[in-house]
Amino acid sequence: MKELLNGFPESFLWGGAFAANQMEGAWDKDGKGPCASDVNICNVGKHESHVLDNRKFTKETIENYLNKDCDLIFPKRWGIDFYHTYKEDLALLKELGLKSIRTSINWSRIYPNGDDETPNEDGLKFYDDLFDEMLSLGIEPMVTMSHYEMPLNISLKYDGWANRETIQMFKKYAATILDRYHGIVKKWITFNQINLIGAGEGSFNHFGILQGKQGNHLSRKYSALHNMYLASSEAIKYGHEHYHDVEIGIMLLLEPVYPATCNPKDVLAAQTYNRMMYYSGDVMAKGYYPEYVFKYFAENEIDFEISDEDEKLLKNNTADFFTFSYYATEIFAENNLGDGGYYGVGNAPANQYLKLSPWKWAIDPDGLLYTLRTVYDRYRLPIYITENGLGNFDTLEDGTVHDVERSKYLQDHVVAMKEAIKEGIDLRGYYWWGPIDIISCGSSEMCKRYGMVYVDQDDYGNGSKRRIKKDSFNVYQRIIESNGEKIY
Ligand code: BG6
Repeated sequence: MKELLNGFPESFLWGGAFAANQMEGAWDKDGKGPCASDVNICNVGKHESHVLDNRKFTKETIENYLNKDCDLIFPKRWGIDFYHTYKEDLALLKELGLKSIRTSINWSRIYPNGDDETPNEDGLKFYDDLFDEMLSLGIEPMVTMSHYEMPLNISLKYDGWANRETIQMFKKYAATILDRYHGIVKKWITFNQINLIGAGEGSFNHFGILQGKQGNHLSRKYSALHNMYLASSEAIKYGHEHYHDVEIGIMLLLEPVYPATCNPKDVLAAQTYNRMMYYSGDVMAKGYYPEYVFKYFAENEIDFEISDEDEKLLKNNTADFFTFSYYATEIFAENNLGDGGYYGVGNAPANQYLKLSPWKWAIDPDGLLYTLRTVYDRYRLPIYITENGLGNFDTLEDGTVHDVERSKYLQDHVVAMKEAIKEGIDLRGYYWWGPIDIISCGSSEMCKRYGMVYVDQDDYGNGSKRRIKKDSFNVYQRIIESNGEKIY
């Protein structure tokens, strides 16, 4: 009889995750070009998410945002100055006990314009030093190749992922970093949350597509996504052909929806949503589009070419492991289906059984077990949870932050993971999102904090920048030290 584990395996990777564009700062230093996230504005005090909304990204707006006289606020340009503080910050994360850190390489540090002949040596040098420092601390890097950091020039000149030429630029970038860091970085992710595509024409950060082009916008969006799948497969192909010790995985945003009632219509609506949420996983982990997507394409007059060559590339170059971000769940009723049965959650009702974070994300540790079961049943691949966490307001009291809710969030989600492992699910790692406070992806605010280390800085970038351990630091440290045995 097969024996199952009773707790976390010794090799379990307790980790923390962040993205270059949300913390490095130095957005125009040492040859780096501007990237998509560098033109994300913060509407201070509004607490609103903008990443799914690409309406403002025309050529003129971007030029205005890049003009040095523009007085809007772009916090991702300064991040938490990690570019200069990474040694001190990593030392703190080592003290926390992290065994692995997931970060991204900012594409625009390596190829400032995307179409450059040769890579920017100064950009590579920064990551040489960063990974060296991690390894010297005994922290294993896991690296995302693309986390909303497409060089802006690719949007302006090529229309981002809408253009197949972008695949070649990504392929070259992926080969550059795989060549440079093989033997140092063994676990890679091609695209962050590849399925976070948004309504309408989709997210600018994700696709880099400019507004105002003619034609069926859904076709443009889904063909752009198709180009990203191909780019991901090209990177996997290159990695596998050249380096035997490199594993390349994929990453999805999993925010499953439950039916709002047991009315079969609501159950079907929720299922429709969830199937669309997972289909990117099928393309990248199984190597083919599931049939229901073609029905959706036909109903929405979405038409783009998938050639035999494309099919072969996808089929032969699938992911080595599956990763996902998980923050919350939603509930869904028949009338909530939005943009062709997908992102329409804006008007969905709240789940009466769950508490909401201040940003209205429903806190649901059971939903993590539900998600892990679904992923493992569907893909049978090793799993890493590469983002999970609670974005909250924090206040300094007696020189620290008593972030009880964040600790509880962590503890309850660790319990859910342990349960999954006991069921035989091949879960190999957990990465808390933003173990040190960073700029929010969605709203570009600093006040939406995830960290176990507080950074004394406000939405405008003012403050002493001092790093202060919060109460949750001790909680995660104890969980890691005991390998998930001492949770509460
Ligand atoms: C994920 C992203 O969407 O969620 C991260 O991969 C992001 O970049 C995280 O920071 C949390 O979202 P937010 O908007 O609260 O920062």
